[in-house]
Formats: sequence, structure tokens, C-alpha cells
Amino acid sequence: MRIIKNVLQMQKVALNHVKNGDKIGLVPTMGALHEGHSSLIAKSKKNDDITIVSIFVNPMQFVVDEDYLKYPRTIEKDVEICRKNHTDYVFVPTVNDMFSVNHKTFVEVKTLQDILCGKFRPSYFRGIVTVVVKLFNMSYADRGYFGMKDFQQFKIIEKMAKDLNFRTKIIPCPIVRERSGLAISSENYYLSIEENKASENISRILKEASKDFKVKDLNFVKESVLDKLKKIPDGKVDYAEILDFNDLSFAGKNTRKVVFAVAI
Ligand code: PAF
Repeated sequence: MRIIKNVLQMQKVALNHVKNGDKIGLVPTMGALHEGHSSLIAKSKKNDDITIVSIFVNPMQFVVDEDYLKYPRTIEKDVEICRKNHTDYVFVPTVNDMFSVNHKTFVEVKTLQDILCGKFRPSYFRGIVTVVVKLFNMSYADRGYFGMKDFQQFKIIEKMAKDLNFRTKIIPCPIVRERSGLAISSENYYLSIEENKASENISRILKEASKDFKVKDLNFVKESVLDKLKKIPDGKVDYAEILDFNDLSFAGKNTRKVVFAVAI
């Protein structure tokens, strides 16, 4: 496994693989790797000749009152996890190499970036999409792997790749959960014991609701979930929406597959 810290070096190495006819898989991450990331790496190892894991805490996707500096950084452990998963390259660019002081170009996916979490975190998805486009261009990726845990992020990147004719195929990967049912996430590090319990509870409430979809109407399911969510101590519901799985529009009677998106 080779660690690459320089953008030009990454492009040079990736281009050589393209010339050799290798298929390249990219697993973009912000580090603090866990089993969820390992499952993405495993999927790339199965599909691709070469697997690149990028580790870059992207300042562009932190909003003003969030602390970019506090984001967990566990680079030595991350490198070990990559090694165990037989990653070919770990790409760890610096902020200065990634974004020049004169950076002026941003990629936006209108509408999808403004709903759900985007309403509460302006410019968040713009920061994510911009860095993902850059990572695709640096790695010459044939496939990019994204967890369905960040469902809005996945849908936005999928749409960007389609709209901009990217040759990189966006591969959705199933959520990896703790035994409690809570999705494993680097951001869970931020939770206190009480908040962790509350999060497990949210996951349980949604799982129960998933059974109701077959027999009850959407409004009933939404209201009964909202009632339960409002009882969570210290919780303030930002949104609870039942949406069409395909395009994140509001789900109706005829929607075939739905996603229930909740933020507290
Ligand atoms: O999901 C993440 O870890 C990040 O949003 C990503 C896709 C690596 C972009 O910084």
C-alpha cells in the first residue's frame, strides 16, 4: 500500500493505471474510518483493479458555527484500517494543495442541495460536491463508493455525475449498523452517552415505522413518528419527511419506494 500526499503525484499514478487498462475505484472519506468505510473498500476491492481511499477533512463542508478543527482525526489508525483492507493507495492531500487561496469554482446541485439538511446547513452540499468532483478528477475513478447512510449526499452526487456526464459510476453501499440498529458514523463520536441512547431510539422508531408503510397511509405514519420523536428528551425536530426514494420529491399514494428522512 502506498500513501500519496500530493495532488499531482496522485494524478500521475492514477493516469498510469488508466494507461495500463486498470479500473480504478475511489472511496472518498474524511478519515475516522470505521466498519462502514471498510465495507466500501471491500466493495471496491471486489469490483476494481485498483482501490484508492482518500482521506481529507474538507473545510468547505463545515458551516460557520461548526468546528472544523474538532472533527476527529485518527490518521494512523485510518492507515492501518486501509492496510488491513488491502487498499492500494491512500491519498491524503493537504488543504493548501487541494484548494488554492484563489479557489473560485464551486459545483452546485440546485433544489436537492436546498432541502432537508441543506436547509439548515447552507453551502454544506456545495462544499461536498465541489470536493468530490475534484477527487474524481485527481483519481481518474471509474467507480466512486458512497454509503447510503448519507442518503441526501448520495442522491446529490449521483445527480451531479449524471448532469455533468461524469464517466465515474456512483456506487451506493448499504448502511452498516451497530447492534442497536444505529448507523455507524464518524459523527457519532460527538454524541454524549445520553445522546447516543436518544439516537438509538430514533433508529428504533424509524424501523418500527417501516412496518406501518405496508398497512397505513403516509400521513398517519409521519404523524405517529413525529409524536414519538417529540417525546425524545432534549430533542428538537428539524425535519421529518417521507420522500420518493428516486428523486427526493414528496412521496404520495403512488410512490413505489420511499425514504423517511429525519433530523433531530
Ligand atoms: O461522506 C464523507 O465522508 C464526505 O462528505 C466526503 C464524501 C468524503 C466529501 O468530503
